[in-house]
Amino acid sequence: LISTNERGPTILKLGGSVVTDKGEDFSPRLALIEEIAAIISRSGKRFILVHGGGSFAHPIAARYGLEKGYRDPSQLIGLAKTKQGLVRLQALILEALIREGIPAVAFMASSFARSESGRIRSLFLEPMRSLFAIGVTPLVSGDIVADSVLGFSVVSGDQLASALAIEFGAGKVIFGSDVNGVYTEDPKRDAKAQLIRTVDMSTIDGLASTAGSSAQRT
Ligand code: IPE
Repeated sequence: LISTNERGPTILKLGGSVVTDKGEDFSPRLALIEEIAAIISRSGKRFILVHGGGSFAHPIAARYGLEKGYRDPSQLIGLAKTKQGLVRLQALILEALIREGIPAVAFMASSFARSESGRIRSLFLEPMRSLFAIGVTPLVSGDIVADSVLGFSVVSGDQLASALAIEFGAGKVIFGSDVNGVYTEDPKRDAKAQLIRTVDMSTIDGLASTAGSSAQRT
């Protein structure tokens, strides 16, 4: 949790393990999504929302070997299916947000971002900025975007949240996951993972760069 600009929006990243049950393909955690939507609505604050793909995206991306980028045409239907999964999950999240009266509008990272070797290199955020300025709440998911080196690459919600935080001068960045705290590694997989006690912009950006290169994250 950081505070650099009290007037900036809060960037809230909902990990795939928060919005989906990772144990079963295509299983949303609807009660939790609803609860989060209600909290956002009651807060009265400005948010930019980012979510992971969880069980709507990772299993398909893995099945088609999408993490390493474009290798052969047989991956393309997997690319399409992964992005379809993200859209399906996003529709469920939108439903909950809109039910709570939040004017949430989905923006696809593949339409506003390009990457280079898995790192975001260019962004076209003017449309999002304009709609945010009049009160819209943008909703973005981790995505597969065009990549100048790899053909395409998986860009995590963490990496997008970090980029949007910088671009929008975020007052706060919150990474919601099923782990308490921010760690150097995934504490469920790596015994050497250490809790980071003070988190600032550079920490978040550093974490996002490691996160972007791994599809194994929760
Ligand atoms: C990317 O989203 C999902 C894919 C395109 C594979 P994230 O990497 O942010 O998703 P979670 O939070 O780990 O599930």
